[in-house]
Amino acid sequence: MSNRPVALVTGANGEIGRSLIERLHADGRYRIVTLDLSPLPERYRPLCDETYAGNILDRYLLDQLAAHHEIEAVFHLAALLSTRGERDPELAHQINVEGTLHLLRMAQTLSARLDRSVKFIFPSSIAVYGIPTLAEKRALGRVREPQGLEPITMYGVNKLYAEHLGRYFMRHYRALSANTERTARLDFRGIRFPGLISAETVPTGGTSDYGPEMLHAAAQSKPYACFVGPEAQIPFMAMPDAVAALMGLLDAPRESLTLPSYNVGAFSLSAAEFATRVKNAFPGAEITFAPDAARARIVDSWPEDVDDTAARTDWNWAPQYGIDRAFDEYLVPSIRARYQK
Ligand code: SER
Repeated sequence: MSNRPVALVTGANGEIGRSLIERLHADGRYRIVTLDLSPLPERYRPLCDETYAGNILDRYLLDQLAAHHEIEAVFHLAALLSTRGERDPELAHQINVEGTLHLLRMAQTLSARLDRSVKFIFPSSIAVYGIPTLAEKRALGRVREPQGLEPITMYGVNKLYAEHLGRYFMRHYRALSANTERTARLDFRGIRFPGLISAETVPTGGTSDYGPEMLHAAAQSKPYACFVGPEAQIPFMAMPDAVAALMGLLDAPRESLTLPSYNVGAFSLSAAEFATRVKNAFPGAEITFAPDAARARIVDSWPEDVDDTAARTDWNWAPQYGIDRAFDEYLVPSIRARYQK
């Protein structure tokens, strides 16, 4: 089966990356090649054809990757998240923008060389939205893709710009060159994820992290002080749905896609409701609220929910994990089992 095409996964060692590798391996269509700053844990290596430890800012390394592998799909997951990005905004820009530019350039060069469109799957985020006040947030409710795009974090600014870059590479790259009409272009597909919750890993450096942190702390009988107030509300999604969304968008016929980047929703709840669900599952859980003003402000600037009608219409997106199923059938049992081992 060595003639199977290659899917490149950057940021493979992150939360989404690890779940995606398992899903791509089970799917079997692709040979998996990964790139991450840190080496992939032993458990995931047998699922991959090659695993590279390296920096997405290393253009020489990306050239090598493109020379050695006929990459048909890129899942560009590597990023610095929103809290980490506020601690080092220039580094966030380098990784989230320059790194993405390098990957886009690589995918575009490959598309031209192989004369077929390399698919470029890009996880964007609800962080692209920035709603000035809580009153406006409430009034807006479920936000649609063109609304409220004034992000207040470097990460959100970077993701929004990267969506534009992807659209540019796909539709307008080098519009003045004589032979662009005849050159295959990359096929950019973006998804704006809500806060993601995995039963396998605890996220690092994000601002939606209070959700998963609360759950993982409770399962280990550790007290947890939540860094946003009880009223704070954003949409969340269980990791299996996030991976299903990436695969669904990958498989969508190009002609059905009308947006460069799509909202995908699953459920939305306040931090207080999150805490109640965690306490119901883990009755001993000690959860307190100790808001950090700056991080709480970021969460307040994100929409309380997303309108994902476009994804539902264009590529049949439908989440499998609503709020009850996410907690009762995925998060709680898997996290409990994880810490009982
Ligand atoms: N979950 C991410 C973060 O909190 C947003 O995409 O930074």
